[in-house]
Amino acid sequence: MIGQDILFFNSLDSTNEYVKNHLDKLEPGTIVTAKRQIAGKGRRGKEWISNEGNLFFSLLLERDYDCNFSYVMRASTVLVQALAEFGLEAKIKYPNDIMVRGRKIAGILIEAKKGFMIIGIGLNVREEQFETLEAKATSIKFETGYNFDPLDILYAFVKNCNDIMHKEEEHLYQQYIAHSYVIGKEIKFQGHKATITKITRKGLLQISFDDTFRLVSMDDITLEELYYDK
Ligand code: BTN
Repeated sequence: MIGQDILFFNSLDSTNEYVKNHLDKLEPGTIVTAKRQIAGKGRRGKEWISNEGNLFFSLLLERDYDCNFSYVMRASTVLVQALAEFGLEAKIKYPNDIMVRGRKIAGILIEAKKGFMIIGIGLNVREEQFETLEAKATSIKFETGYNFDPLDILYAFVKNCNDIMHKEEEHLYQQYIAHSYVIGKEIKFQGHKATITKITRKGLLQISFDDTFRLVSMDDITLEELYYDK
């Protein structure tokens, strides 16, 4: 069961690193959370600024699915469902940024080690200052005016996660697509005016231009231009 064991820390370098360094002592399904992180990690080697008042946690899972996109779909749809319980209509910016009103509210860093998957999630809960990220990022406080307890969002995530684990892959895919922030959006791609027309079941992005299309993997594209939805 997910979240049967939850380890709480005041401070860690990074919850993902903690899980990776204690794999032999942690049961699958364990969650590690910290009030703040000193060296929070984002995707593509970026820093994840981790001030107290926000939510940082990592979930340890056995690697049951070959395709990494399975984990991407699961983590992002569960997060969207959990946020809905707090009144937020969130969307998924491919592959796994969680957006509200065109601004990023949460990020997911999925890492693999020794037959395990580590699902790391950072969610802006009470953040009000976004420094240089201003207008590209938002928080639950910013969107709703309420200072929720970060742990209440974690508990909503755990509940939704246990519900979704038994669902078929196709159900998850349909949920992921239904909440996609990117499908139908126009982008510039290799000098072409292109449209994102599909995300395949294996997690490739289909980009159409002129009378052709390309399939691109999540490691090969950042959709930086797709912020500030109206
Ligand atoms: C992203 O770049 O969007 C992914 C951000 C992931 C941040 C979370 S916070 C909890 C976990 N521990 C980390 O060091 N990173 C992830």
